[in-house]
Amino acid sequence: MSDDISKRCCLANESEPTVTRSTVPMWIIVVTLVLLFFGGLYFDSHGDWGNQKLYKPFTSAEQLETFQPKSGAAAVMAQGRASYETVCGICHGSDGMGKPGQAPALAGSEWVTTKGVNRLAHIPLAGISGPLQVKGQNWNLAMAAMGAALPDENLAAALTYIRSSWGNQAGEVTADEVRNIRAAIGNSPPMLSREQLLALPE
Ligand code: HEC
Repeated sequence: MSDDISKRCCLANESEPTVTRSTVPMWIIVVTLVLLFFGGLYFDSHGDWGNQKLYKPFTSAEQLETFQPKSGAAAVMAQGRASYETVCGICHGSDGMGKPGQAPALAGSEWVTTKGVNRLAHIPLAGISGPLQVKGQNWNLAMAAMGAALPDENLAAALTYIRSSWGNQAGEVTADEVRNIRAAIGNSPPMLSREQLLALPE
């Protein structure tokens, strides 16, 4: 009989809920941290920090901006940049720094940041050859009339672009200015030398 009681007691005791403290398993902590980490990465790269104007599939306001239609000066610069990159950038570089032995710099060039645009516009329309100083450096190569095949608007925009990029701060070139110079020099004019260019009004 006493055996029975002790059994009952101990069985009952065993099924009592216990209140021992147990630590959170390590794997839950690791999984939580990993999820937080990747969640943070995703939020950072996709949400533009909660910007309401943003929608899929764009991931930042700057990226979205590049797809918006441009107007006025921004449109001219975008067009000028495109023409420049296609026709001139191969030699003068996307950064306008020129390439050793290939083409002089346009960034900071005294031929680009002229007051007027007459001399400058003659360069891509007629070409330039022979000895030339650019930013104190001597060059003696030749450039064909690389801009002659571009429509007036595109060449004007490209020249506006090089006059106001890479630290250059000179005025805009209009399609009319390019058109007039093109008409004055005619089709396939001879390349100009430095002296012939300097003899032209700036
Ligand atoms: C095939 C290579 C080449 C391409 C393409 C080219 N250029 Fe040039 N460019 C030259 C060379 C070489 C000179 C220097 C010529 C010399 O030594 O007489 C030069 C000189 C110049 C100069 C005067 C010097 C200076 O650095 O400021 C200007 C301005 C210029 N180029 C503008 C342009 C524009 C605008 C375009 C596009 C429409 C263009 N170039 C495309 C090779 C090129």
